[in-house]
Amino acid sequence: MAVKTEEKLLETNKLRASCLFEIQSCDNLKKLETLKSAILGKNGKITEVMKQLKTLEGDRKRLLGAEINSLKDIVTKKMNEKFSELEMKELDKRMRSEFIDISLPPRSENVGKIHPLTKVEEEVSNILSSYGFAFADGPDIESEYFNFTALNVPDHHPARAMHDTFYVHKLADENGRKLLRSHTSPVQIYAMRENTPPMRFFSVGRVYRSDYDATHTPMFSQIEGIMIDKNVGFSHLKWILTDFLRKFFEVKSLRLRFRPSFFPFTEPSAEVDINYEIRDGKIVFGVGNKWLEICGCGTIHPNVLKSGNIDSSKYHGIAFGFGLERLASLKYGIPDLRGYFEFDERWLNTFGFSHSAK
Ligand code: PHE
Repeated sequence: MAVKTEEKLLETNKLRASCLFEIQSCDNLKKLETLKSAILGKNGKITEVMKQLKTLEGDRKRLLGAEINSLKDIVTKKMNEKFSELEMKELDKRMRSEFIDISLPPRSENVGKIHPLTKVEEEVSNILSSYGFAFADGPDIESEYFNFTALNVPDHHPARAMHDTFYVHKLADENGRKLLRSHTSPVQIYAMRENTPPMRFFSVGRVYRSDYDATHTPMFSQIEGIMIDKNVGFSHLKWILTDFLRKFFEVKSLRLRFRPSFFPFTEPSAEVDINYEIRDGKIVFGVGNKWLEICGCGTIHPNVLKSGNIDSSKYHGIAFGFGLERLASLKYGIPDLRGYFEFDERWLNTFGFSHSAK
């Protein structure tokens, strides 16, 4: 029996040496995991030896038991040390491979361009605000009443046909049929009704007419301006439009020509032209004797003031309207109106504005 125990102890020593050697030479976590169950697992080498302990008795059992326990302890300790060592190595490797070189130049960022309409809307708003005009707004889906009747365009008047209006079929209320507003002038009525004179307002927004070619799109944008006061008249209109257009086109010498015209909502009415010349195939404003139509305007018709609940015996008003795309095209040389609404990135890259130039 004593001999057998000796043999067992010898085996234990061998086992210790082989376990420690295997642990020591293991070089990756996965292998170590396998090794762990091969040594310490349910059917592992050390577990097997422990099972054999049951067959021994008395002192021998105690002696060998202590030996195996210390073997198990040392192997477990070495195993854990190896685990931490390999985990650190793995982490180190990962950190090395995931290293970010922050000294590399950044990739250029595509921040997009500002649409010419946005740019021009901002320019126009800045100039009009400097005259004390505040922003006013109205809905895109209007009624016949606000789009025409309140603006002194009677039922069946040919002026209603002048704008090729889009009607929203089957929709109507006490203000008549619903339609997509054909101009921004209905905003005049809201501004008048919601405020008391003296007042100065402007609006910028989309309008709709059934038209489509290089110079007409079914949707475009207008700017509307009104000023109502006791002694306001055509001279104010002349000053505002002259100063506005000179500032907008950045040409001090720009000349304006007021041509008598007709709008049902203004009396008298005028269309305004600005002078230009073609130099080297380019349009230059403020020189030469050619004229280009740029806006409609007039003193507000008393019937329109009445629709806006304003006493026309006390107050007068002036109004003007521009096409926003037309202003943008003339200032920035944008050829075809349709490009504004086609959402083509190449168009925007050509005619758009960078953020820094804002
Ligand atoms: N609403 C007119 C149009 O669309 C423009 C205009 C506005 C004319 C204000 C006079 C005064 O043609």
